[in-house]
Amino acid sequence: APYLNDLAQAAGKLWFGTATDQPGTGEDTNILYQTILNNTHIFGQITPANAMKFVSTEPEQNVFNYTGGDIDVAIAQDHGKYLRCHNLVWATQISDFVLDGNWSADELTAIMQNHISNVVAHFGGACYSWDVVNEALNSNGTFSPSVWYDTIGPEYFYLAFQFAQEAVDALPAGTPKPKLYYNDYGIEAPGNKSTATENLVKELQARNIRIDGVGLESHFEVGGTPSLEDQIAQKEAYVALGVEVVITELDIRFTQANATNSTGFAQQAQDYYDTVESCMEVDGCVGITVWDFDDQYSWIPSTFPGEGAATLYNADFTRKPAYYAVGDAL
Ligand code: XIL
Repeated sequence: APYLNDLAQAAGKLWFGTATDQPGTGEDTNILYQTILNNTHIFGQITPANAMKFVSTEPEQNVFNYTGGDIDVAIAQDHGKYLRCHNLVWATQISDFVLDGNWSADELTAIMQNHISNVVAHFGGACYSWDVVNEALNSNGTFSPSVWYDTIGPEYFYLAFQFAQEAVDALPAGTPKPKLYYNDYGIEAPGNKSTATENLVKELQARNIRIDGVGLESHFEVGGTPSLEDQIAQKEAYVALGVEVVITELDIRFTQANATNSTGFAQQAQDYYDTVESCMEVDGCVGITVWDFDDQYSWIPSTFPGEGAATLYNADFTRKPAYYAVGDAL
């Protein structure tokens, strides 16, 4: 079988990688899962699916827990993989003290800054990048509701990047500096949300606040994946602003519209091919990450009831046509 990360790196990309969700999900005790995850010929990068989120790292105010995140740091270091660190500021998976505190804008801004500075300092140079703000936009391009937006207003977005920049710049001399990313879904092809994302990048740049990249989640549907041309065009539009892009959370799920038969799996393979190919055709697209690699551990069925079979491997760790299609694209 093709070695996906080897192919990606030979073609000049930094990685082909995967999200992973450990400890505690069962992945960490499944020997087949671990063998494939640890194989850096296949996956040259990992993203913790949950372990570095706010609720995991600061469950109570100013009480930090890095146990899970440190496991991911160790996996990456032990096996020579890049690590994308995910995420600092998001609407969901935040701690009760944030949600229930009835904070003023100034108080919540201080909470955000304290979180960012502590977490960035702890993981330091282990992170290739941080997703500083995650999923800030509605599909029409306006800011979406969150405790951050509702309390602080749109300034929360720029403050988050400013605090992240300050935290990175405060790392000890010689520490590799994590890149600062905005990460979202529905920004992979031209449209209102993508234009709004470009405008956020431009506004940060106008304010002299650092942004290094845009993460394109790429949670797609079989038969409903944006075209190769549209995906190339949108990646090029971000790169033209002077930032890099990564496909950060790729999976392509079956909905009720497509049966999991050979026709469906062929369509899924084509959709994976087009998405990966769009990155191969844009120099500033530096890596491709799938949002876990085996259907047994995919987040899709629990979030989208009745949908699934979204990853590169069947539940029994056999490879789907999509796996080979990715190999062809790389
Ligand atoms: C998902 C995780 O995979 C799930 O385990 C968790 O229950 C919810 O979050 N966009 C993101 C990721 O940026 O953090 C999400 O991860 C998937 C959608």
